[in-house]
Amino acid sequence: MAPILSARHIRKSYGAFVALRDISLDIPHGERHALIGPNGAGKSTFIACLAGQLSGVEGQMLFKDENVAALPPAALARRGIGRTFQISRAFLQMTVLENLMAAHVIASGRWAALSRRIYGERIDRAHEMLVTVGLADRARDRVADLSLGDRKRLEFGMALVGEPELLLLDEPTAGMSIKERHGLMDMVAERLASEGRTLLFVEHDIDVVMKIAQRVTVMVRGAVLAVGTPEEIAANDEVQAVYLGGGH
Ligand SMILES: Nc1ncnc2c1ncn2[C@@H]1O[C@H](COP(=O)(O)OP(=O)(O)OP(=O)(O)O)[C@@H](O)[C@H]1O
Ligand SMILES: [Mg+2]
Repeated sequence: MAPILSARHIRKSYGAFVALRDISLDIPHGERHALIGPNGAGKSTFIACLAGQLSGVEGQMLFKDENVAALPPAALARRGIGRTFQISRAFLQMTVLENLMAAHVIASGRWAALSRRIYGERIDRAHEMLVTVGLADRARDRVADLSLGDRKRLEFGMALVGEPELLLLDEPTAGMSIKERHGLMDMVAERLASEGRTLLFVEHDIDVVMKIAQRVTVMVRGAVLAVGTPEEIAANDEVQAVYLGGGH
C-alpha cells in the first residue's frame, strides 16, 4: 500500500550536535509502527520534526504525497497529523469535557463557526470519546482532580477526538503501571485499527511494542539501524548488540 507518510533524508542539528543524521522512513496507511532505540537516539527529535515543532529541519516529509516539512503544528493537525500534548496549566481548572471540546476545536481549526448544530455535534463526539477512554463518569470533574492515569486517558481522548489519520505518540504511557499501560495501548490500537488510521509511537516497554506494532524501526545515534516486523527485530543481532551493550 502507498505510504501515508514518507520521511526522506531528515536531518536535524542542535548547534554543532547532529541529532538526526539522515532518516528515511515509509509508513503505509493503517500501519502501527513503533520507534525504539537507546536513550538519546533521536526518537523524540524525530517525532517533534514530524509534528512541526522544530525549526531548521532538513529533508522532505511527504504526507499523502504533499511535502509538509515546513508547516507549523496547527497546519499539520488540519491535514490529519495528530499527537498527544500535555495538558497545560491553564486547562487544569477546566472540566474533562471542556478539555475534550477544546481539543476538538483546535484539531478542526474552526474557531468561529459555532453554530448550534456544530456545538451539538462536538458535545456528542466528546461524550462518545469519554466512553472510549473510560472517563464517562468524570465528564464534569476538573482535570486538576484526576489521577495521573486518568489524565493520560484524557490526553489520548484529546488526541483521538480530532480523528487524526496519523497519530504520533512519544512515550504515551510513561509513568503508568504495566497493567494500565497495556490497557490503554490496547484501547488505542483497537480504535485506530477499526478506523484504518495510522500510528507511529515511541515506546520503551518492549512487551507493548511486540504486541501493538506491526513494524518496528530501531534508531541509534540519530540513524536508522533496522526496520522490520517485531519478530525480525527481536532476532536481529545488531539490534541485540545495541540493547545488550547500550545499557538501555
Ligand atoms: N533542545 C536540545 N538542544 C540540544 N540537544 C538536544 C536537544 N534536544 C535533544 N537533544 C539531544 O539530541 C539527542 C537526541 O535526543 P532525543 O530526545 O531525540 O532522544 P530520544 O531517543 O528521544 O531519547 P530518550 O529515550 O531518552 O527519550 C540527545 O543527545 C539529546 O541530548
Ligand atoms: Mg525521547
